Amino acid sequence: MNRGFFITFEGGDGSGKSTQIQKLKEYLQSKGMDVILTREPGGTAISEKIREIILDPDNAEMSDQTEMMLYAAARAQLVNEVIEPVLNSGKSVICDRFVDSSMAYQAYGRGLGDMVWEVNQKAIGNCMPDLTILLKLDPDQGKNRISNRQQDRIEQASSDFHRKVYEGYLALEQRFPQRIKGIDASRDIEDIFKEIKDMVDDLMSRTV
Ligand code: ADP
Ligand code: TYD
Repeated sequence: MNRGFFITFEGGDGSGKSTQIQKLKEYLQSKGMDVILTREPGGTAISEKIREIILDPDNAEMSDQTEMMLYAAARAQLVNEVIEPVLNSGKSVICDRFVDSSMAYQAYGRGLGDMVWEVNQKAIGNCMPDLTILLKLDPDQGKNRISNRQQDRIEQASSDFHRKVYEGYLALEQRFPQRIKGIDASRDIEDIFKEIKDMVDDLMSRTV
């Protein structure tokens, strides 16, 4: 049995990931593919509990190291319990955020550097996405789009932090051009989706 495709979405808060993921899921299902959607931090009972701790605005005293390791712990559980078994069963996985989020937010944003990759490598082993779609949107624009929803602990961080996260994503895109494909996410939903569809069609034509 062929392993399924593993596709992740990345980008700042409010960049349009959930919107595009929903459209991609419908597109792939219309082609007869078996696809499961999951998200980070979360996606399993244990990981959702860790998510609550990480994002709780009352946990203002959480150290950057604790935050980084909790994201990695939630990820290790998701990889073991969901992502690996699903891919091995031949189904495809679309994940809303994955290890690149830790690189952008914790390594670049919090300034923790290489340690973030070292810890995450232990959490995920060889489980890396086949394709990562990076929705590139100026962080101030992203913030405006989500201004009417309740902000979690990370979303409440300073605009300086979110600017560093954005620059971190741009650096990752440069560093891993084969896997990470950036898209201008300031455009119309349908224009963005057309580009995503082309990227995914290309991935599938390369691997069959
Ligand atoms: P994320 O999952 O990255 O936080 P969402 O998909 O939830 O982003 O989108 C955040 C908000 O912006 C939602 O209200 C959504 O309807 C809106 N939105 C998404 N894509 C676009 C777009 N291309 N242009 C304008 N608004 C958008
Ligand atoms: P998410 O629920 O995806 O928020 P949004 O829908 O606004 O994009 O993610 C929660 C927050 O956690 C988000 O601000 C990004 C942050 N995050 C990290 O800092 N590191 C990580 O490894 C992950 C997966 C998320």
